[in-house]
Amino acid sequence: MSAIYLLRKIATKTPSRFHRSLFFSTFSKESKPDSPRTNSIRHLASQRFVPSSIYRFPQSKILPNRKFSTSVETNSSDKSFERIHVQSGTILERIHKNEEEETVSKVNVETERVVREESEAEKEAWRILENAVVRYCGSPVGTVAANDPGDKMPLNYDQVFIRDFVPSALAFLLKGEGDIVRNFLLHTLQLQSWEKTVDCYSPGQGLMPASFKVRTVALDENTTEEVLDPDFGESAIGRVAPVDSGLWWIILLRAYGKITGDFSLQERIDVQTGIKLIMNLCLADGFDMFPTLLVTDGSCMIDRRMGIHGHPLEIQSLFYSALRCSREMLSVNDSSKNLVRAINNRLSALSFHIREYYWVDIKKINEIYRYKTEEYSTDATNKFNIYPEQIPPWLMDWIPEQGGYLLGNLQPAHMDFRFFTLGNFWSIVSSLATPKQNEAILNLIEAKWDDIIGNMPLKICYPALEYDDWRIITGSDPKNTPWSYHNSGSWPTLLWQFTLACMKMGRPELAEKALAVAEKRLLADRWPEYYDTRSGKFIGKQSRLYQTWTVAGFLTSKLLLANPEMASLLFWEEDYELLDICACGLRKSDRKKCSRVAAKTQILVR
Ligand code: GLC
Repeated sequence: MSAIYLLRKIATKTPSRFHRSLFFSTFSKESKPDSPRTNSIRHLASQRFVPSSIYRFPQSKILPNRKFSTSVETNSSDKSFERIHVQSGTILERIHKNEEEETVSKVNVETERVVREESEAEKEAWRILENAVVRYCGSPVGTVAANDPGDKMPLNYDQVFIRDFVPSALAFLLKGEGDIVRNFLLHTLQLQSWEKTVDCYSPGQGLMPASFKVRTVALDENTTEEVLDPDFGESAIGRVAPVDSGLWWIILLRAYGKITGDFSLQERIDVQTGIKLIMNLCLADGFDMFPTLLVTDGSCMIDRRMGIHGHPLEIQSLFYSALRCSREMLSVNDSSKNLVRAINNRLSALSFHIREYYWVDIKKINEIYRYKTEEYSTDATNKFNIYPEQIPPWLMDWIPEQGGYLLGNLQPAHMDFRFFTLGNFWSIVSSLATPKQNEAILNLIEAKWDDIIGNMPLKICYPALEYDDWRIITGSDPKNTPWSYHNSGSWPTLLWQFTLACMKMGRPELAEKALAVAEKRLLADRWPEYYDTRSGKFIGKQSRLYQTWTVAGFLTSKLLLANPEMASLLFWEEDYELLDICACGLRKSDRKKCSRVAAKTQILVR
């Protein structure tokens, strides 16, 4: 059966999934479930966009923060605004939540528009980005992954990838163009409800595709029509499940609302259902002993075998961000209150788990070095039975005195000590890690600048798997040879996430420095997908040129730095309510000790 035939067959069976009905039904009818919380902001939503990227976004357009879904009952005790956290008995933090720490988004001050000259690289980047736009029935719906005219074998790089589109979307939003993002969010939402089958097996409802393509199919001799053809992993190399797609979709949905002020999109019933489907899929009960998401290898940006199966940090930090977004966006009613409660409990458990068990710095490594093993009890110190011999020799020399980072992965008797960039950045952006840990991650990057930034920001992970590790862990993958591609190649697209993390931590100068390194080369090198070698000196062996998320990541970094108020809408501060929630409900019971309390890692002083 040909692919086209299959498409047609599905289209006939499920007309609502087909583009035309989809386009008209989705866009002509605005379903706006009215809720009281939206009325106050609706008038602001009409005065949205700034016409040009060379202007700073006027602060008067910044909307007040919206109500969070914490009104649903949790196991939380009372809220306090000042407390002391003791992490593993070592990190002492006094946190004052005062007016200075309120997010800038609450500020409503008129600032003058500052005209900024675009560099040659920026002008060219905008040209490439506009050229990468994919249209569907005449409307922009996304951007292709790469648009290299010299590439004779584009594979699936001519498709719109969900994760790749995020920096494009942000660049457009920050420029004042919201339509393409809105269209993208609504069309991918429709794809979510496709019946997908891989070898007669259907993955969970709510799964978002990794990518989609607009195809033209012949209806008869004279008529053609366009269809959206998604890939849920059934065609992708290695048949990898795109776990991150749904998480990115939720993150982008929130960003769209925050930047444009058009909250009506996230309030639509179909959009609310989309959020719920993704959350239900992520929060489904399984055999898990940990609050982290259990996934296969290749389920995120690193979409090939790289030994990240299990509980990789990248997925956990995107999961945490998506949980926080959903908590903000879900309307609380009888049908959603249980889900909102589950989200609150998971947020709390997840941040505790990551902060406590994923964190490494010189002190923690020394602790692991002296671990006793085979401890059988609920209050074991070495809970995951980590053998000290696992500490890789490179780490002993590499770890700086100042700074630390979150581990790549944690499983029974297994710690992946590699530094994974995206996961660490999103932990900062979403406040998955503590404020001190967030600061320490940036300190580590500063101390290890040559390893992580070098000649091209940013290394996807550090260090590379070499020799037997490469052979056994990647399965001798010729694309992922040491210091190439996912195996410690340098990916300029990660710049925008670095910029956001630096801005959140009040250190934009670090991002500016990295951006300057990139700007020196990207235009001349024709916007490669990735760079190779220890210091990112060479354009990657099999790197695509004119890679859209390289272009968009660069532009988004520029725009974020020029519009700090807009950037502040995209990150989260510490949430004090979440720290109080303990899902197990045993804290006050003397029947059995709550392991979190027993761990004595968070001491709350009121
Ligand atoms: C590669 C990357 C993946 C990206 C895709 C499209 O497969 O590993 O992260 O989404 O290319 O650019």
